[in-house]
Amino acid sequence: MKRILITGANRGIGLELTKQYLLQGNFIYACCRDTNRANELQSLQLQYKGRIEILSLDVEDEVSVKSCFDELDKNQKYIDLLFNNAGIIDWSKLEEVTSSSVEQVYKVNLLGALLVTRNAVSCLQRSTSPLIINLSSRLGSIHLRGDTQLGGAIAYQCSKAALNMLTRQTSIDLKPFNIRVISQSPGWVKTEMGGQEAKYHVEEAVSMMLHALEKLPHDKTGIFIGEDGEPIPW
Ligand SMILES: NC(=O)c1ccc[n+]([C@@H]2O[C@H](COP(=O)([O-])OP(=O)(O)OC[C@H]3O[C@@H](n4cnc5c(N)ncnc54)[C@H](OP(=O)(O)O)[C@@H]3O)[C@@H](O)[C@H]2O)c1
Repeated sequence: MKRILITGANRGIGLELTKQYLLQGNFIYACCRDTNRANELQSLQLQYKGRIEILSLDVEDEVSVKSCFDELDKNQKYIDLLFNNAGIIDWSKLEEVTSSSVEQVYKVNLLGALLVTRNAVSCLQRSTSPLIINLSSRLGSIHLRGDTQLGGAIAYQCSKAALNMLTRQTSIDLKPFNIRVISQSPGWVKTEMGGQEAKYHVEEAVSMMLHALEKLPHDKTGIFIGEDGEPIPW
């Protein structure tokens, strides 16, 4: 049984990660910024008694992040797997995006993952095989720009490229602690963010992600992969 912490666990991909890992028999720290609006997580808590704890965590608020992990540290809790999943998008193009929106997107998608990662290190160190998954996107691949029709979400794309750098750098910084870090794109998924035109149902995307992570060799770190486990160029 793994102990898995998921940010933004109340809906979309985070909620489905929670469901599928619970089904496999794991223990979940399901984090969300408003625990009073986490109805589905509360139902899961009734269904899977003792295997899910709902924690309040707003990734863009340093005080919230610190107090969440201080509480876990105080009780000597460990985390095997951390999903930096919480994220937001703004589809605006260069000409129309506002500076406040760029700041907000970076605050959640990049700074949020950085703060969570930094505060989670001691819990991760208590695991025998700790792994961090940063939920990235092909829209954040610098190499793929121009090769695809997709694009036009300037703030989001830049924030995910920056998140990929966080993956790469933290994979080096955290190597002495035996903590591995990877970026994984879930593919284009039918959620509030992905919309109904997306390629995958959320169940299918998350099942593929989990399968790819299970197959991933235990020495892999600092890489960028897709939902199928295949490498994506940075
Ligand atoms: N869907 C796709 O096609 C797709 C493709 C590539 C990558 N991704 C990535 O996958 C991840 C999950 O996406 P999704 O499709 O599941 O999105 P979603 O359905 O919009 O859900 C986003 C989640 O992030 C949470 N969140 C937002 N700001 C937060 C904050 N400040 N603190 C804590 N939680 C916060 C939301 O919580 P609230 O309910 O409180 O807002 C929600 O739980 C994101 O990082 C996204 O960039 C998605």
